[in-house]
Amino acid sequence: MASLFRKKIVDLTPQANALARTLSWPHLVALGVGAIVGTGILTLIGVGAGLAGPSVILSFAIAGAICACAALAYAEMATMIPASGSAYTYSYVVIGELIAWVIGWSLILEYSLVVSTVAVGWSGYAAPLLTQYGFPVAFTAGPALGGVVNAPAVFIIGVVALLLSAGTKESATLNAVLVVVKIVALAVFVAVALPAFDAANLHPFMPYGFPKAPGADGVDRGVMAAAAIIFFAFYGFDAISTAAEETKNPGRDLAIGIVGSMVACVAIYILVAVTAVGALSYTRFAGSAEPLALILREIGSPKVAVFLGASAVIALPTVLLAFLFGQSRIFFTMARDGLLPQSLATVSKRGAPVRITLITAAIVAVLAGLLPLGEIAALANAGTLAAFVAVCACMLIMRRRAPDAPRTFRTPAAWFVGPAGILGCLYLFLSLPLRTELYFLAWNAFGLLVYFVYARRRAVATG
Ligand code: ALA
Repeated sequence: MASLFRKKIVDLTPQANALARTLSWPHLVALGVGAIVGTGILTLIGVGAGLAGPSVILSFAIAGAICACAALAYAEMATMIPASGSAYTYSYVVIGELIAWVIGWSLILEYSLVVSTVAVGWSGYAAPLLTQYGFPVAFTAGPALGGVVNAPAVFIIGVVALLLSAGTKESATLNAVLVVVKIVALAVFVAVALPAFDAANLHPFMPYGFPKAPGADGVDRGVMAAAAIIFFAFYGFDAISTAAEETKNPGRDLAIGIVGSMVACVAIYILVAVTAVGALSYTRFAGSAEPLALILREIGSPKVAVFLGASAVIALPTVLLAFLFGQSRIFFTMARDGLLPQSLATVSKRGAPVRITLITAAIVAVLAGLLPLGEIAALANAGTLAAFVAVCACMLIMRRRAPDAPRTFRTPAAWFVGPAGILGCLYLFLSLPLRTELYFLAWNAFGLLVYFVYARRRAVATG
């Protein structure tokens, strides 16, 4: 029984199979923004507007505020425990093995499904270009949408996996360049579409009410139902904390990286959301696979729309890069702790965990090749919310257990921010579609089976 609560002892001295320390804070802010700005703002903004109407602006603000609370807790925990593994490692050190396993298992779900979702989203932008040159349509979508396999999605995951295997620093530098492309595209969208702002488009502001409530068609709508999906757009900063072991000066760099990228993205999103729902009635772009480009076309700027689409194709892979990076590090850490097969935790001469990166990529490529977008994103959110609750709880527990321990970064108003993060995440989880909640519970029930049959006896990281 006690083994369920045994805690991980973090050894911060250099290890034989340590990852190379090559990153500093500009890389981390770029990694954060690169991971955060993606399919959420480019595609799910349409889905969110369909669920909440113009009040999707509120959904953005709510999801952003909850993520900001979690980001602050992450920054404190990441600087106290600058070891690979993010929420999984914090839970293992602070709470105990069983909860850590549940969180690690949830993170595997989150990272895998984000990579799959964004690859499918990327394919949505790339497919029209490819089919124009004779690429068979059946190979641009998975079976759920009447195709055979989503080949572009599989392809882009392969490219990103090879980049990561080549070494972390090179990938992070390329990532920084692509982040600029993405930010410029969103800035151009705001500059071109904001003059078309018409207050009439904001009425009625909240057509589906505030809490999640089923419509006549059985679909849950409302500001919170939209916030639970829009939440996808905000996370990614947690991928930075998975780079802790590869950061030159983790105490300073992680806090700047996490908080800086989060604040920047909240500001950008609110601006984009206000511009979008103000420029065009939400009913006209809610169902679009490329809502921002559609808005630009509708207000008479088709060339800017093409520019935005092309920028998405070029820059969306930064999200894949960050999440595949994070996923391989979670696997790596769990394997090194003995909870997953240790043969996976080998590092190449250049300091990159190549084997686990390629295995992870193969699994998420299969998912991306076969599954449709919508529900995968919601399920990814469920996994992330579990991790955020755990990190906020770890931050509060450590404030009690070790109030005087040195902290490079202290969450301001911790006893407000921590509980607000926990309650906010629980409210978002309850605002997800019921089916998503059940899938999430089933995934963790399966995870617990693996834990009790395999992992529990093999743990090596505890004291
Ligand atoms: N926040 C990331 C996105 O929007 C996952 O794609």
